[in-house]
Amino acid sequence: MRSLHSYRICVRRCGAAFLVAILSTGLAYAQAVPLNRQPPPQPPPRVNPAPAAPPSGTDDPGVRTGVAGAGGPLIDLDTDEAHFFIAALQRFQEVSSVSGTLAGESGSGLGPRFNGNSCVSCHAYPAIGGSSPPVNPQVNLATLDGARNVVPSFLSSDGPVREARFVRNADGTPDGGVHGLFVITGRSDAGTCTVAQPDFATAVATNNVTFRIPTPTFGLGLVESTPDDHLQTTFAANADAKASLGITGHFNHSGNDGTITRFGWKAQNKSLAVFAGEAYNVEQGVTNEAFPNERETDPKCQFNTTPEDGTKLVNGVSILSPASVYSSDTVNFAALMRFLAPPTPAPMNATVQHGYQVFTNVGCPLCHTATQTTGQATTAALSNVTYHPFSDFAVHDMGPRLADGITQGTANGREWRTAPLWGLGQRIFFLHDGRTKDLGTAIAAHASNGSEANGVITQFNQLTQQDASDLLTFLRSL
Ligand code: HEC
Ligand code: HEC
Repeated sequence: MRSLHSYRICVRRCGAAFLVAILSTGLAYAQAVPLNRQPPPQPPPRVNPAPAAPPSGTDDPGVRTGVAGAGGPLIDLDTDEAHFFIAALQRFQEVSSVSGTLAGESGSGLGPRFNGNSCVSCHAYPAIGGSSPPVNPQVNLATLDGARNVVPSFLSSDGPVREARFVRNADGTPDGGVHGLFVITGRSDAGTCTVAQPDFATAVATNNVTFRIPTPTFGLGLVESTPDDHLQTTFAANADAKASLGITGHFNHSGNDGTITRFGWKAQNKSLAVFAGEAYNVEQGVTNEAFPNERETDPKCQFNTTPEDGTKLVNGVSILSPASVYSSDTVNFAALMRFLAPPTPAPMNATVQHGYQVFTNVGCPLCHTATQTTGQATTAALSNVTYHPFSDFAVHDMGPRLADGITQGTANGREWRTAPLWGLGQRIFFLHDGRTKDLGTAIAAHASNGSEANGVITQFNQLTQQDASDLLTFLRSL
């Protein structure tokens, strides 16, 4: 009942705000300078040195304060969908322990290896479903309930939530997989399990570890509901401008059905259901119907039958949403993310409007495509919607400064998905590994030898200080 109440408050308080913001956003984007009117600049050489420094004194206005412009449901969900959303919101916050027996940790299946104990531990800011919170919960998690984990050097209380991938195996062959930061060893609910943490100190010393931070999950139902041909059409636009600036890029594809994959930092994942199942097993160690096998098979560390999460064949009583009760956690997580509204930008003003024109003029939208459209979706609220993710959902060669040396699908060790910029105004950490909190630094990191973004960043660096500042103000309005 408590959550139903807060949902009603949100419909009353946030409903109108969503609508106003969506309308004003649409208006502003419609007025933006069409990209193909730009005078084609000199084509930069494909391999060029990192451009000179950006205009000095261009400060990032910082995280936008005030009400979180995210976390509510799509405004036009029907009643059944809205009820499922509220129920699923609880599941997303459920805390896992080894067998669900500890007070306040009723979810079952944590570990043997894990990075977090709840979806919301990592997807928290500026609202449930988002990205890293200001205080990293992983530091306390290391020793929760008697666990004896050492906090690796790359985690800190005021740093981003991170997960770690190893680049190579000991024999030099490619690894690329996520290695759980923590183990359940020592926890009061972990019996005689003795698995040890990976040796992160050596991995750091030998440059064999790379990091990823959580991506926000707001608005992802829209991304999921965008047909491949819509993505291909927006990607094919402005071909001349792209060619003259050295921008190519390509989509990542599913090895299973061949369609465009679009989720994750390398666009490596197909759907919200697949991502939810994978995250439940990889981040928390909870086996499920999509990923039914434990990653760590040490017999002394198995406490539950698998899969630990699955369809409930018997309904517990819920007047709110019996469908949610029958469904697995994984299905609930996917539904929650599908029904989360996209972030609401701050109201448009003259500076933001001008900043958007500068953003367009220097060519950022050649990758950070402002507008995408969904197809006919079963959920009416996701059907034929125009939305503004600021991404082409393609992967681009971003050069050695951002490279991680890891291949996923057809995205190689230098390629990354164009990070969607919606919600950027209330994001704390930037880039795949969360290396900076500063927008100017994030933009500068786009440039290094061979990066597809070098041509655009060269133009950015030639802006007047005022124009560059307005561009950053625009980004913080998102
Ligand atoms: C320990 C932190 C952590 C936990 C816990 C966690 N995630 Fe994530 N999440 C991440 C990271 C890191 C990424 C980026 C992974 C990548 O692209 O390689 C991510 C990405 C995602 C994405 C992709 C979003 C996009 O924009 O493409 C989805 C969906 C997601 N997580 C869902 C979940 C769900 C559902 C849960 C709970 C079962 C969960 N996550 C738990 C850290 C976490
Ligand atoms: C060639 C394509 C391309 C161009 C051009 C480009 N970007 Fe990006 N942008 C990316 C990719 C790919 C990432 C993710 C890189 C990573 O995390 O390693 C990114 C990340 C970002 C981020 C960090 C977002 C996050 O979620 O952490 C910001 C901010 C950003 N870009 C702004 C800009 C601005 C402003 C411009 C124009 C001056 C621009 N970009 C031009 C491809 C591009």
